Amino acid sequence: MGQNPEMMRAVVAEGSGGPEVLRVVQRPVPRPGVGEILVRVKVAGVNRPDVIQRQGGYPPPPGASDILGLEIAGEVVAAGPSAGRFSIGQPVMALVPGGGYADYAVVHEHNALPIPPGLSLEEAGAIPETYFTVWTNVFDRGRLQAGETFLVHGGTSGIGTTAIQLAKAFGAKVIATAGSKEKCEACLRLGADVAVNYRQEDFVAATKEATVGRGADLILDMVGGDYIPRNYDAAAQDGRIVQIAFLQSPKVEVDFRRLMVKRLTHTGSTLRPRSPAEKAVIARALEDKVWPLLAQGRCRPVMDSTFAFEDVAKAHARMDGGEHIGKIVLTL
Ligand SMILES: NC(=O)c1ccc[n+]([C@@H]2O[C@H](COP(=O)([O-])OP(=O)(O)OC[C@H]3O[C@@H](n4cnc5c(N)ncnc54)[C@H](OP(=O)(O)O)[C@@H]3O)[C@@H](O)[C@H]2O)c1
Repeated sequence: MGQNPEMMRAVVAEGSGGPEVLRVVQRPVPRPGVGEILVRVKVAGVNRPDVIQRQGGYPPPPGASDILGLEIAGEVVAAGPSAGRFSIGQPVMALVPGGGYADYAVVHEHNALPIPPGLSLEEAGAIPETYFTVWTNVFDRGRLQAGETFLVHGGTSGIGTTAIQLAKAFGAKVIATAGSKEKCEACLRLGADVAVNYRQEDFVAATKEATVGRGADLILDMVGGDYIPRNYDAAAQDGRIVQIAFLQSPKVEVDFRRLMVKRLTHTGSTLRPRSPAEKAVIARALEDKVWPLLAQGRCRPVMDSTFAFEDVAKAHARMDGGEHIGKIVLTL
């Protein structure tokens, strides 16, 4: 561990509730285990799952830290036994199962990635959670192909802004939904072919109109509730629907005949509880297929705002308010 300190600042939720339950506390600096690296965190991304964890709805998986935070960018300061992928001092970004809102975090070296040229540390810290999630759900599970139509709900969310850019980069036609005119304009600027203000327009009708009645081949949904039957309506024959969250209710009455008649596939997944080995497979695919696009500037994280680490409650309040477009990060 060399000259790294024994104690560090870290953010935990004391109880559950609004941003006021967040506390900056002192914790021991973690030690890298076999295959792990210790990262001096410079940037920690803020994600909706952090907010849900703070509210008491998303406890950390067994073995994961109770310190908030799922993604980081910073500098490697130590390596555990048999970790040799990165050199000491190298800048990296990483997906962590928790523990990101802290001065130091440990991560399996294969869940960390080099920072493509031309990206700032702030941008790098805004990448892992949404890029891993979009890759595994849109391209692995959802099997999106060039020429297909992709409907993404929450187009200006961290996830949505990433999904729009990657789907376009891989040759899909993109329809995005969002809750305001300003957010719809942001979706179009990111490359969406069609943006639907769901407060004013029915996304099912808009999807049918944009596809000459065919519907979307793939739908990425974080809303649930009444979107579930409506997604079945908006989907094309043999369409796929991938569920990544339920911002509305996870319980709903559905007429499944549409699923049968259209031969739909409705699936879903969560990222956080997966093993480091499973996440490493996603990391390899990203490095191979997406890192060149980042290096060429063909996709880029959409930065909403940056907050100082001590202002973590303000960062969460910004996400709670729902006005943000793209990513919120903390700097340390
Ligand atoms: N399964 C996984 O592995 C995984 C991984 C990461 C994240 N997620 C989930 O993905 C979602 C997005 O995460 P994020 O960090 O990108 O969050 P975020 O930036 O806060 O985005 C949430 C988005 O949802 C929209 N929204 C909120 N309430 C809504 C409602 N009731 N109906 C329709 N739209 C609503 C908001 O946009 P509008 O103003 O346009 O409504 C907002 O853009 C979260 O639910 C998160 O838990 C899942």
